[in-house]
Amino acid sequence: MAAVHPVIAPEARADAVLDVRDLSIDFATPRGPVHALREVNLTVPRGSVVGVVGESGSGKTTLISAAMRLLPDNAELRGGAVLFEGEDVLRMSPQALRNLRGQRISMVFQDPMTALNPVLSIGQQMVDIQYRDRGLGRAAKKRKAAELLRRVGIPDPMQRLGNYPHEFSGGMRQRIAIAMALLGNPELLIADEPTTALDVTMEAQIIHLLRELQQDYQSSILFISHNLGLIAELCDYVVILYAGTVVEQGTVRDVFHRPQHPYTEALLVCDPALLQDVTRELPTIPGDVPDLVNLPRGCIFAERCPRVFERCRAEDPATRWVSAGHAARCHLASPLERS
Ligand SMILES: Nc1ncnc2c1ncn2[C@@H]1O[C@H](COP(=O)(O)OP(=O)(O)OP(=O)(O)O)[C@@H](O)[C@H]1O
Ligand code: SF4
Ligand SMILES: [Mg+2]
Repeated sequence: MAAVHPVIAPEARADAVLDVRDLSIDFATPRGPVHALREVNLTVPRGSVVGVVGESGSGKTTLISAAMRLLPDNAELRGGAVLFEGEDVLRMSPQALRNLRGQRISMVFQDPMTALNPVLSIGQQMVDIQYRDRGLGRAAKKRKAAELLRRVGIPDPMQRLGNYPHEFSGGMRQRIAIAMALLGNPELLIADEPTTALDVTMEAQIIHLLRELQQDYQSSILFISHNLGLIAELCDYVVILYAGTVVEQGTVRDVFHRPQHPYTEALLVCDPALLQDVTRELPTIPGDVPDLVNLPRGCIFAERCPRVFERCRAEDPATRWVSAGHAARCHLASPLERS
C-alpha cells in the first residue's frame, strides 16, 4: 500500500489523474428525473488505487461512464466536472475523446469477452490495438503483446498469440483482457467488478496480479467492487457511495478501521477483522434504498440509519473532514483525535 497522506483533501488535488468535482447527473425517465449522482467528489491520486464500493443502484456505473463520457442519451449533466489530467472530460473535443478512450483511460470489465473479439486470435487483437503506434513494425508489436501476456501469467505467450478467446479459461481471459488494457500504457485503468465472474481462487489471483502490475507500472487504478475484502486487499483509498452520494471516503485504513458514517459502520458490522476474508460481499442492511426520483428531505440514509435523530430528517448533512483526507457526510461526524 502507498504511504498514507492526505490526498483527497482539496489542496492535494493538483496531482490527481482523475478528479471528479461536484458531479451531479440525472436520467430522464417517464416518472421524472432519476437523480443518479449528486455532488460526487472523488480523486484518484497518481500512482494509487482507489476503490469505489456501493450497493446495486448506488451510481458506480454512472460514475465510470461519466469518466469516459459514455453516458446514455437520457443522461443529463446537472453540474460539476470530471477532470482527467486537468482537462474536463465532459467538455472535451471529439478528437481528444477518441484519444482518451482505450488509450489514456483503459477499462477492464466484469466479463472479459466484452473486451475480446471471439472471431480473432488474441495476437491479432493485441496487434490491432497498437494501430496508433506507427513507428513499430508488426513483429515488434507481436513481441510487445507476448511480453505483456507473459507478464500477466500466460505460459508460452508467443505460441498462445495464435489462439482464440474460447481456447482460454475464464481466469486466463481476464488476464488477457488486463494485458490488452495495459498495451497502450494508459494513465488510468478503470476496473469495473473485474473478478465477479470468477471463482474465489481465480479472484484472489487476479487481485494479486493487479497489485503487482500497479506496483511495476506505477499505474493509477479506479477499482469498482461490491466486495469489501477485495477493496481492503487492493486499494489505497476507498469511496463509499450510497444512493448516488459519497457518504464517506479516505484511506482504506482510516475508513475501515475508524468508520465515521453509520452506513459504513453497517457495512463493516463494526468488525474490520472480517476484512481479512476476501470473499466478503456487502452485507444486507435492513430497509430500502430511497427512490432516486422522489428524494427524501434531509439525510439520504435517514430511513435506514440506526442513529437517526430529528435534525437528520430536516437537514441534509454537509461533508465534514474528520481527519486529513478522511471525510464523512453525517451530522454526527466530527474531527477525530489521532491515536
Ligand atoms: N439509462 C438510465 N435511465 C434511467 N435510469 C438509469 C439509467 N442508468 C442508470 N439508471 C439509474 O441510476 C441509478 C444508478 O445506476 P448505476 O447503474 O450507476 O448503479 P450501479 O451502482 O452501477 O449498480 P449495479 O451494482 O447494479 O451495477 C439507479 O437507480 C439506476 O436505476
Ligand atoms: S446524518 Fe443522521 S441519518 Fe444521516 S447518517 Fe448521520 S446520523 Fe444517520
Ligand atoms: Mg453497475
